[in-house]
Amino acid sequence: MEETIPVVDLDDLRREGGADRAADALNRAFGHFGLVYVRNHGIDTGQLERFYDSWVELTERPDAEKETWARADVWYQRGWTPPNTEQAVVAGGQPDFKECYFVAPMELDERCRLMFPEIYAENSWPENADSFREDYLALGAAVHGVGMDLLRACAKALDLPEDTFAEATKGGPHVTRALRYLPLDESQVGTDILWGEEHTDFNLLTLLPGGRFYDPEGERCERPDPESGLYLRARATEEHPKGRMVHGRPPAGCLVAQVGQQLEILTGGHYQATPHVITPPKQPAYTRTALAHFIHLHSERRLFPHEKFLTEETILAYGPPVLAGTYGLKTLVDIGLAPKDALAKLGYHHYDRLAEARS
Ligand SMILES: [Fe+2]
Repeated sequence: MEETIPVVDLDDLRREGGADRAADALNRAFGHFGLVYVRNHGIDTGQLERFYDSWVELTERPDAEKETWARADVWYQRGWTPPNTEQAVVAGGQPDFKECYFVAPMELDERCRLMFPEIYAENSWPENADSFREDYLALGAAVHGVGMDLLRACAKALDLPEDTFAEATKGGPHVTRALRYLPLDESQVGTDILWGEEHTDFNLLTLLPGGRFYDPEGERCERPDPESGLYLRARATEEHPKGRMVHGRPPAGCLVAQVGQQLEILTGGHYQATPHVITPPKQPAYTRTALAHFIHLHSERRLFPHEKFLTEETILAYGPPVLAGTYGLKTLVDIGLAPKDALAKLGYHHYDRLAEARS
């Protein structure tokens, strides 16, 4: 059994003889932990620092201004998500302690925009936030590129044609999220309040280029205690039938990539969408910023195990197939962002038309 989360070196993907090493790291990491550390990813850390500065500045603007960036009309898929808006699906309904900003950095499919207008909405931006906008779009696109490299490497690692996953994402509803985890007060520290409740990501692949902590004075600081941060639940084994909880602490300079539910389904469970949780520090008044990029399948793709992984067991585990867009829509309802009636009409137009004709 794996003890520590493997590191994949992106330079190995281009280096003679490196592909096997990368494939081995990815299969071990995504097979057991659902998470890999990525070295030599090429993300501009100076730009990331500047981005966090402008994001913190935005979170400190008055609530009345921030509320004008909240887009309930597009189910919070763009703009500002106020605290206590989103809920993990299997978490007893406890909302997360965070505020976020959603942006789509890539060009999106126009046909999908007709079918899923909220999920494919245009970006919206705060006023007087030019560098925020510029850095956000550039970082989102750069991190997306890292994700594409990884998806090609994953396909090769699983003996599939290289473009199997990458091609299926083109034009999909990829989205980047800036997060600010909120400070806990004295009475909240040590309770069961979490920065992010235990959940699995519903997209294909998630990339996390690394966040920042801030002390009670708002100054940037090191991790306030060794235990806080991301924990994942590794694949169940005989020794750990519920899956061992593993603390994710990437080596310096590495970003983190995580398997989402869509990739687990396509690989028939070879790669695992690993449940993870974000625990707050054990002292009050600390905050943290982070950036997450979510790569999705194109919404018209079928979400079902690839032929290579199709067995009675995987059909039972992941069937019947649905479209990626339908799957995403249902998830947005389940996490409390989209209204329940968003599901009621999916593709069913005849009854309404007939009712109208008869009226
Ligand atoms: Fe997550």
